[in-house]
Amino acid sequence: MPSSRPTDSSFLPGPILLLGAPGVGKGTQAQLLMAKFAIPQISTGDILRFNIAQGTALGNAAKSLIDAGHLVDDDIVQRMVGDRLTGHEDVMDGFLLDGFPRTLGQADWLDHHLGQLRSSALGTSFEGRGITLPVVVIHIVVSYDVLLRRITGRRTCQACKRIYNIYSNPPKIADRCDLDGSQLVQRPDDTEAVFAERMNAFNEKTSKVIDYYHKEGRFEAVDGDQPVEQVTAAIMRALKSLRQSVQVA
Ligand code: AP5
Ligand code: MG
Repeated sequence: MPSSRPTDSSFLPGPILLLGAPGVGKGTQAQLLMAKFAIPQISTGDILRFNIAQGTALGNAAKSLIDAGHLVDDDIVQRMVGDRLTGHEDVMDGFLLDGFPRTLGQADWLDHHLGQLRSSALGTSFEGRGITLPVVVIHIVVSYDVLLRRITGRRTCQACKRIYNIYSNPPKIADRCDLDGSQLVQRPDDTEAVFAERMNAFNEKTSKVIDYYHKEGRFEAVDGDQPVEQVTAAIMRALKSLRQSVQVA
């Protein structure tokens, strides 16, 4: 049964992957798209940082890898995403996966896991809801020099996680969130040296994931080097076209 929740979109979103290099705008766009579609953002980076802040075993295992700009092990992030997707009603119309999958192993796991969720929806009230649609992929593209400036200029509200940039989107009062006045912080991995390592991981591992979805025709690239609202509009056009053309295998 289709959702009756009000949204700003004329189509069912289903599962959407936002992929791209560090700083392309995945988080910024996910925050805007989740409001348009009334679906959740699932950011593996945000979940890992939450675990680090809480001092959990998962956070302790991931911290040194993230600080060095390396990928966290597949089984850790797969378990995190599996826990978030299973048994949660809010993902039934769709969800935005921000920064997952980043390896071919994660992409295989996701296909398998969503296949299981799709089968378990058959014959239930979830049949025909967005969760049963195939995954579609948006690859946001921005050049290296622009990314470096975005990464070093990024500041994030430590309370509500709203994303700012001291160059392109500064807060009204320096280092304070416009929404709740909380302190803005810089991520420890947002240095030039760690950014270079994160780019290496992207080029070596995640570019293969993008090729995989490209070959399957479940993919659109979007120019991320334009004003935020124009990137959102381009993503909406790309999603509409993908939803018209991509069918469940
Ligand atoms: P994660 O947190 O996902 O980092 P990332 O992929 O490197 O991406 P970022 O969050 O840095 O950038 P973004 O694309 O979200 O850009 P944003 O919107 O903030 O992952 C961190 C780490 O966790 C990884 O390195 C890895 O160790 C681990 N990890 C996470 N997922 C994993 C996985 N699946 N497998 C293994 N390990 C994993 O924008 C950036 C800046 O640009 C902001 O200041 C923003 O205001 C500005 N901006 C955005 N759009 C525009 C625009 N159009 N014009 C001008 N400025 C803009
Ligand atoms: Mg992000």
